[in-house]
Amino acid sequence: MIILAVESSCDETAVAVVKDGRTILSDAIASQADMHAIYGGVVPEIASRKHIEAISGLAEQALEQAGVTRGDIDAVAVTYAPGLIGALLVGVNFAKAAAFGLGVPIIPVHHVRGHIAANYIAHPDLEPPFVCLCVSGGNTMIVDVRGYTDMDILGATRDDAAGECFDKAARVLGIGYPGGAPMDRLAQGGDDRRYELPRAHVADAPLDMSFSGLKTAVVNLVHNARQKGEELDLPGLAASFGAAVSDTLVPRTMEAAKRCGYGKIAVAGGVAANSRIRADLEQACRQSGDKLYLPPLSLCGDNGAMIGCQGYYEYLAGTRGDMALNACATREIRLG
Ligand code: KG4
Repeated sequence: MIILAVESSCDETAVAVVKDGRTILSDAIASQADMHAIYGGVVPEIASRKHIEAISGLAEQALEQAGVTRGDIDAVAVTYAPGLIGALLVGVNFAKAAAFGLGVPIIPVHHVRGHIAANYIAHPDLEPPFVCLCVSGGNTMIVDVRGYTDMDILGATRDDAAGECFDKAARVLGIGYPGGAPMDRLAQGGDDRRYELPRAHVADAPLDMSFSGLKTAVVNLVHNARQKGEELDLPGLAASFGAAVSDTLVPRTMEAAKRCGYGKIAVAGGVAANSRIRADLEQACRQSGDKLYLPPLSLCGDNGAMIGCQGYYEYLAGTRGDMALNACATREIRLG
């Protein structure tokens, strides 16, 4: 089965062609990051306009790279939630037009379910059930993946996503947007105990998380140092920050895995590219005996292939949209 997959939930326009859920035939992506970097974060209206400019050309490119024609497409999958509403609407409307024009079904896909599915592409042996740590710019949650389309949240952030926290820390340090990768690079060789940063706990919800205090702590630390004319140890700060995020994510993921007892842990989303988090999870899994599935860096961030992969499993489960399909800015993962 050949699926044309469309992703436009944030600042990447992506169109992919995926065969039988697990084989990428093409994965065309146009990032708008440079445009938003001027403002230090995503400007929703600009994102929508850039998606409109890019999406038709990317679809042509994806078909050409895959070596398929329009007539080979069996279904169109599209991210319909969660994300920036104007950005999502561009993808949803493009997908509806494509499905209508081609006379094939349209499959709505939850963005975070797509991130999880990136692991199926990378690891042919991976099948549910497993526990997945989903960490991106807009979402941070630990998910019980009972089946390909049967999921529940075990713990989640109560405020900011981990990626948002990386981006704001990088912005105050003036090292670029999106900030996760530059923070990761800066942290290499830094002393992770150089600065004392908070690790929040949510009372009576041991698997839930909070990152807003950490974000504020870094912003205050930098502003105070600047006001006093003190020089900061930047690699030390980035390493201490990465350690604080990892210390929040990794023990909760391991606890969730212990409770579920599947013996399998996957990681998903842009922040899954973080070297400290990957190394800490590898070490924790060596100790616990859980098998760890890490996506390659190319499949951590937003892409169309992951939507095509999850779209395949949604299709098998009977999920269908119609011409009334709408985008939703927020939608729980368990509802798909
Ligand atoms: O999954 P993604 O591309 O978009 C969303 O669905 O949100 O994730 C983007 C996020 C950004 O916040 C970016 O700073 C972060 O992933 N990120 C990283 C790294 N690479 C990207 N965060 C930490 N370390 C990295 N190496």
